[in-house]
Order: sequence, then C-alpha cells, then structure tokens
Amino acid sequence: MKVKFLLLSSVVVASSVFAADDLAKLAKDSGLQALPKTAAEIAKLAESAAPDAKDFPTTEKRVELGKKLYFDPRISRSGIISCNTCHNLAIGGTDGVPASTGHKWTPNPHHINAPTTLNSVFNSAQFWDGRAAHLAEQAAGPATAAPEMAATPESVEKLLNSIPGYVKEFQDAYGKDTKITFDLFATTVGIFERTLVTPSRYDEFLNGDSKALTDAEKEGLKTFIDKGCVSCHNGINLGGTMQPFEVAGKYEFANVGDFKGDANGMVKAPVLRNIVDTAPYFHNGAIWSLKDAVKAMGSVQLGIEISDDEANKIVTFFNALSGKLPDAALKYPVLPARTDATPKPELDY
Ligand code: HEC
Ligand code: HEC
Repeated sequence: MKVKFLLLSSVVVASSVFAADDLAKLAKDSGLQALPKTAAEIAKLAESAAPDAKDFPTTEKRVELGKKLYFDPRISRSGIISCNTCHNLAIGGTDGVPASTGHKWTPNPHHINAPTTLNSVFNSAQFWDGRAAHLAEQAAGPATAAPEMAATPESVEKLLNSIPGYVKEFQDAYGKDTKITFDLFATTVGIFERTLVTPSRYDEFLNGDSKALTDAEKEGLKTFIDKGCVSCHNGINLGGTMQPFEVAGKYEFANVGDFKGDANGMVKAPVLRNIVDTAPYFHNGAIWSLKDAVKAMGSVQLGIEISDDEANKIVTFFNALSGKLPDAALKYPVLPARTDATPKPELDY
C-alpha cells in the first residue's frame, strides 16, 4: 500500500515537472524569449540590440553620465521636467497618466500615453508609430518637443557647457577633446537606457527553473499562448514590434485622441514586461484595468471573446513579468552645480 502510494506520488511529481518543461519549451517554440541568466550576458545582449553601440559602446562612465542627464530637469525649458518625469523609474518607467503632460501643463496633443523606457533597448522600433529606430534617435525627440521638455538643441548644448561638472564628465566619458553636442547628449541618455533591463521570474522559468512560476501563473502563460497573444507579443519584450491594429474589431476608445498608427495603420505592440506597473493602457491610456485590456485584445485583435476566468489567468501570469532594475539605475544621482553662465528656467507662465 505504502509502496503503491509512493509510486503514485512520484508519478504525479514527475508529470508536473515534465509539464513545466513542456510549457517552457512551448513558450520558446511560440517565439517567446528569455533574458539570459547573468548580468554580463544581459549587458552583452543589450549591446547587440542597440544599433548605435558599435560607434558608441557602453562604458560605466557613459552610463553614469547618461543617468544624470535622464534625471536632470534643467534640460527642459522650464527646468522642472526630466525624462524621469514621464518615464519614472519608480513606477515602471511611465508617468501613470492617460495623456503624457509636459511643458506648461500641456497634455500630449494626440492624447498619447508614455510607453515604458524599461527594456526598450530590445524594441525593434520606438514610439507608438515606430518612427524612431533606436534610443539615441528617440531621445532627441522629447527633449525638444514643445509639449514635452520644450528645449532646443542649442539650449541643451548651452546648458551642459555652462556646467563644469558636466564638461568634465563628458570628457572623462568620451575623451579630452570632446565637444558637447545635442546629438552626444541624446546618445548618452540612450546608453543609460540600455541598462534599464528587468529580469524576472518569467525569465527564470524559461531558463529552466520550473518552480519560478506558481501553478496559476503557468496556467496563465499557457492561456496567453493558446489564445494567440504570442503572434504579436513575442520576442524578449513580448512586444516591441510593429503590428496591425483593429484586426478583428473596433477599439472602443478609438475616438480618444487622434492617433491612427503609422502610414500603414500599424501600431507598436507594447512591451508586456512590467505590465502590471504601467497602467493606464493602450496608446491613449483609455483603459485602466489590465483585465479589461486583455479582454479588449480578444475582440479587437483576435476576434474572440476572452472570458473573465481566462483574462484573470493571463493577468496572474503578467505578475511574473515584473522584474528588477539593476541597483545602479535605482540609485538617485546627485547632479553637478549650475554656474552664473547657466541659462535660467523659462516657465512661460
Ligand atoms: C512630457 C512627458 C515626456 C517626457 C518629458 C519624455 N517623454 Fe519619452 N515619451 C513620452 C511619450 C508620450 C512617448 C510616446 C510618443 C509617441 O509614441 O509618439 C514617449 C516615448 C519614449 C520612448 C519610446 C519607448 C517605446 O517603447 O516606444 C522612449 C525610449 C522615451 N520616450 C525616452 C525618453 C527620454 C530619454 C526622455 C528625456 C530626454 C523622454 N522620453 C522624455 C513622454 C515623455
Ligand atoms: C495582432 C497583434 C496582437 C495580438 C494578437 C494581441 N495583441 Fe496585445 N497589443 C497589440 C497592439 C498593436 C497593442 C497596442 C494597441 C494600441 O494601444 O493602440 C496591444 C496592446 C496590448 C496591451 C496594452 C499594453 C499597454 O502597455 O498599453 C495588452 C495588456 C495586451 N496587448 C495584451 C494582449 C493579450 C493578453 C493578447 C491575447 C489575448 C494580445 N494582446 C493579443 C497587438 C496584439
């Protein structure tokens, strides 16, 4: 009797282990990709994903300088808006409001929600319409956009050159004869963003640790695959590529703002890593509940109804996609002091 019981329980244990291995294999066969196990391998992967890394390799000094620029509100015309205002590293790399709000309290004119900067190095396109190819090209946009930071390339150059602490750091990072240009500013912020990678329990699971996910999360992952979400949300970021939108039905809140996707109506599938931290959802931030967002995907993109139960399972799985930033990125930087030559803020009251 005892022997029989032992045998039986070992069969049960073995089959659940096999099931986990099968699920990890199914996930990978479906196009999902884990971050590698070690920080060094992750850094290498980020380097290969950044198209400008050949000309501007990541170094510790550049990352540290890029972090200061990311957090420095003096870059903006008003002196109070930094990249971190809208891509706050404490809340998933976003701002938590439907339409991003910048200079003079101006909401994004197209009612566009800020995507997360976390893991964005792995996206094949940046922005909701994919118009920037990589992070350095991307960073130049918001610094000078009127409704965001409202600076000009000249004002950024003037500011940085007026602060001896920055001049020295640029020289230390790029060489003694370095000229601080707006492009180099954008490049350096992009280099910092290469480090904003968040490995999670989901990665541990795909990398072979069958216990890294709870049974409920495994079921959610299986549902995510079975429903066909992976046809668009795949790769390292479970997103980050341009995809057709409103494939099967109309998006209920399409009339909030006037965003229509790129020239072909394609929209960047958002990164699903840290998705539980980045509400509200969709390009116009019109949906706050993650469960509602999942159900909307069923009708808008797949032409199926996702039940409450299935949506709950998928959301349970999404919890496993929250990861941790490297400690260095989370350590708040102290910025170099201004001088009398530093331009004063223009609040345009
Ligand atoms: C006022 C809010 C605001 C500020 C400030 C801001 N951004 Fe953004 N950011 C946005 C919005 C909104 C978008 C989406 C724009 C679009 O798709 O057209 C965006 C998009 C991005 C993206 C693309 C991510 C993706 O997945 O497509 C990155 C990267 C980014 N910003 C980095 C930065 C950096 C670096 C800075 C500072 C130099 C910055 N942002 C300043 C609001 C802001
Ligand atoms: C045909 C491609 C496609 C399929 C299939 C698809 N998605 Fe999406 N998904 C997208 C696109 C594109 C967006 C952005 C839509 C927008 O905001 O305009 C998106 C947005 C989302 C969002 C909101 C993310 C955010 O940060 O705003 C979630 C959550 C999501 N999808 C989950 C899912 C789930 C779960 C499934 C399966 C039930 C699924 N998707 C199926 C392409 C797809």
